[in-house]
Amino acid sequence: MTAKKSVVIRPATNFGGSMSLPGDKSISHRYAMLGAIADGLTKLENFSTGADCASTLECLKTLGVKWERIGDAVAIYGHGGKLKKPAGVLDCGNSGSTIRMLSGILAGQNFTSELTGDDSLLRRPMARVIKPLEMMGAKISSTKDGRPPLKITGGRLKAIDYKLPVASAQVKTSLLFAGLYAKGTTRLAEPIQTRDHGEHALEAFGAHLERRMKEVSIAGDQKLKAIDATVPGDFSSAAFFLCAAALFPDSQLTISGLLLNPTRTRLLDFLIGLGARITPTDLREQHGELVGMVQIHGGDLKGARVVGEDTAALIDEIPVLAAIAPYTDEGIEIRDARELRVKESDRIASVTTNLRKMGAKVEELEDGLRIPGRQKLHGAPLDSFGDHRIAMAFAVAALRAGGETEIRGADAAVISYPEFFNALEGLVQR
Ligand code: S3P
Repeated sequence: MTAKKSVVIRPATNFGGSMSLPGDKSISHRYAMLGAIADGLTKLENFSTGADCASTLECLKTLGVKWERIGDAVAIYGHGGKLKKPAGVLDCGNSGSTIRMLSGILAGQNFTSELTGDDSLLRRPMARVIKPLEMMGAKISSTKDGRPPLKITGGRLKAIDYKLPVASAQVKTSLLFAGLYAKGTTRLAEPIQTRDHGEHALEAFGAHLERRMKEVSIAGDQKLKAIDATVPGDFSSAAFFLCAAALFPDSQLTISGLLLNPTRTRLLDFLIGLGARITPTDLREQHGELVGMVQIHGGDLKGARVVGEDTAALIDEIPVLAAIAPYTDEGIEIRDARELRVKESDRIASVTTNLRKMGAKVEELEDGLRIPGRQKLHGAPLDSFGDHRIAMAFAVAALRAGGETEIRGADAAVISYPEFFNALEGLVQR
């Protein structure tokens, strides 16, 4: 995205307090899309405030779905399985989740639709959804190298047995959504277990799925029923505050109403391994999703290596882990993270550039980063590279740097968490 505003972050002496977060982005997208193709009125409290989920809602409106915002809630008037042929192009903005997951639903519609987005989205790989959706019977055109804009001609689909070559929850969810419009049972196997919000959301809306380890199947022609739900606080947004608290040995931070789905919370184990003290309490289930309260105290942080399944489980949290790595004792090495190169920015390159501007030593690897520990960083003018998670990660790094850090294009945070900088300032002690 084109982000223009700068934010200046001054170093802190401590960090803490109590907070809760707007609804999880991954879950908000899924509930909104399923609400649109369900029967009845879906009411979603604590819906994500991010621009990405607003892109999903706008696309749904263009597809004939009525919805309204009531405070922090969104009410969606379900259209049943069939949407309306859109009058114009569907603009997915910066949102990879919108374009990939909505493609699954559009593959099952009897019309042609076109999806596009901002410059960052136009660079992102779509072959991972195009290929299996074409196997199911949809016709999809893209640029020669499989990037948006996408033109999808949908219709009645046929079920497939498919092994996902890339570990991607967006692709898995897209194919499960398409599976609703297929004749027969769509069976998917993933190489590494990814977040399972698509599965929980489908079940919450009344669909029946079979799940075993890394396999999931869904029979076609299932009707969905509207739900009333509260979206749990976004764990990936909480990650910035958890990491900030981890940096200060005397910190104490409490986050309530937080999503604690085990496919998302590897960061908690990781921070405990580094030396932070974390206690989850008040655990409960909401529409299949684990929710609770987390209390964290910082500590002296050791070091770590992130590889294989851990990298996949921590994929959205790696920018902030890399940003705190220089302040650990032994540093952090991240491998198997090639996917980071095709996120909202090339996150390996963005992190390397910003850490170096702050005076840190960093080794940039093709599939990750090696960041030594016990480094002293200084404030510097940095760039968000139009990437929300880079803007927020370096606001955290800035809290322990010497001097002021200017984050140019800090407004990229609106993509997932518009309130981020205010919330951060509210917890900082100086
Ligand atoms: C998401 C899955 C992940 C993640 C993204 C949201 C989702 O992407 O990075 O921020 O909601 O399913 P991939 O599925 O491409 O790994």
